[in-house]
Amino acid sequence: MRYASLFQPITVGGVELKNRIVRSAHGTLLTGEGLIAYHEARARGGVAMSTLEATSVHDSAPSLMPLYNDSIIPVYREIADRMRPYGMKMFAQVYHPGAATKPRKSPFPWSASAIPSPNIGTIPMPMSTDMIGDVVKAFGDAARRIREGGLDGIDVHASSGYLLQQFMSPATNQRDDHYGGSFENRMRFLVETLEEIRRVVGDDFCVGIRLPNEEYIPGGLTPQDNADIAKYVEKYVDYVSLHMGSYWRFHKLLSTMEDPLGHEMKPNEVITPVVSKPTIVVGRIMTLDHANHIVESGAGDMVSMVRALIADPELVNKGQRGEEDLVRPCIGSNMGCVAQLMATGKLSCVVNVAAANEQTVPFEPVAPAPAKKKVLVIGGGPAGLEAARTAALRGHDVVLYEATRQLGGQVAIASRAPHRSDLAAITDFLSRERRNPMKWSSPPAPLRVETAFSCRHPQCR
Ligand SMILES: Cc1cc2nc3c(=O)[nH]c(=O)nc-3n(C[C@H](O)[C@H](O)[C@H](O)COP(=O)(O)O)c2cc1C
Repeated sequence: MRYASLFQPITVGGVELKNRIVRSAHGTLLTGEGLIAYHEARARGGVAMSTLEATSVHDSAPSLMPLYNDSIIPVYREIADRMRPYGMKMFAQVYHPGAATKPRKSPFPWSASAIPSPNIGTIPMPMSTDMIGDVVKAFGDAARRIREGGLDGIDVHASSGYLLQQFMSPATNQRDDHYGGSFENRMRFLVETLEEIRRVVGDDFCVGIRLPNEEYIPGGLTPQDNADIAKYVEKYVDYVSLHMGSYWRFHKLLSTMEDPLGHEMKPNEVITPVVSKPTIVVGRIMTLDHANHIVESGAGDMVSMVRALIADPELVNKGQRGEEDLVRPCIGSNMGCVAQLMATGKLSCVVNVAAANEQTVPFEPVAPAPAKKKVLVIGGGPAGLEAARTAALRGHDVVLYEATRQLGGQVAIASRAPHRSDLAAITDFLSRERRNPMKWSSPPAPLRVETAFSCRHPQCR
């Protein structure tokens, strides 16, 4: 069987996952049908479990989805109902950004100590014991709403440098009360939060935790510290999800093509061996082959593939069908997903125009053109290749003209710079596609491709 380890089911906190490919939480800033269509595409594509983006539990840090009041419950019910037919389990991530609360949302962010988050700059207000108690209770209320909303589980975000981590880390917690100083004191807020969530949802509801594996702040949490934390809190949770960094080193939190594939695995080596609960690992794991190796070798029980599945929601299905060569690749540039999310407030993807536009843009053409035409595409850069491919898939008779000896345009040139080679993954994919459009068979479109497009260049014939 292909990818035997990866396609093995696993039961986590009573929730059965049909394979080991999951999606850790990630911001989309979509709501309503747009959000549902986004996740539905990945559910249809074979993913076992997805997590809704980090959502604030408390109105001191307002978020797009108001998890701090009951109006969220019908929203979650709708999402849960729409994912169920595909067998993809849906979790929600709960958090409070603390010092990372955006100024337009709160001019006075809360934190452990008066240490600003580097991506915000505002000096936060050290929280009083009453404020801490209020947020702990809010985590419990949020957990109740998630359970009542029919979702499958809760992912507690104690990472990415947000509030819980601000208390956990000696670099950002300089308190001298019983929430600061010793390891036990720095863990107190997190433990109270987990206890409250458990008190509210009980032991028969899946609760996981997302922890940092490396913090990258001088005097901050090392892999060994994070191993101690994971061991300390694992009795409260059903899985431990590990990932890298915090906003203090944003390029490590969301690595780019500069980092090797699977680069977050190294610090995990100190943590996963001491954890007895199932683990989720992540970080530029772009192929099912790599993911299968991780599960097979015991380096992680589940593999989160976030950007790879933004680029190609059909990745899992294609792997199951042995069509890995048809996977549209993530190039790890972050220019579409993270950069656009932060700059414009909307997720996108430089290699998949349908990402976060699923309601209106199909991943692949869904119907042949009403009339077959001769299409001439001039220029074999990424836009020309993409246009030619789309036209061919719609049944047109396509010829692509390229003036140079190489397809890929400026992307091919840019990819020759040091640490930029992943850029060429997309132009290589598109160049390959011209040779085998007949092989294209991505559901749900039952389109029969009747014409290939061909490059006139002698090298390409
Ligand atoms: C656009 C975007 C938004 C993200 N937002 C969150 C988030 O809300 N919560 C979280 O825990 N991680 C978040 N992440 C991190 C991902 O869960 C994951 O750790 C990261 O993308 C690395 O995995 P990958 O290489 O498979 O993409 C986000 C990632 C992206 C790309």
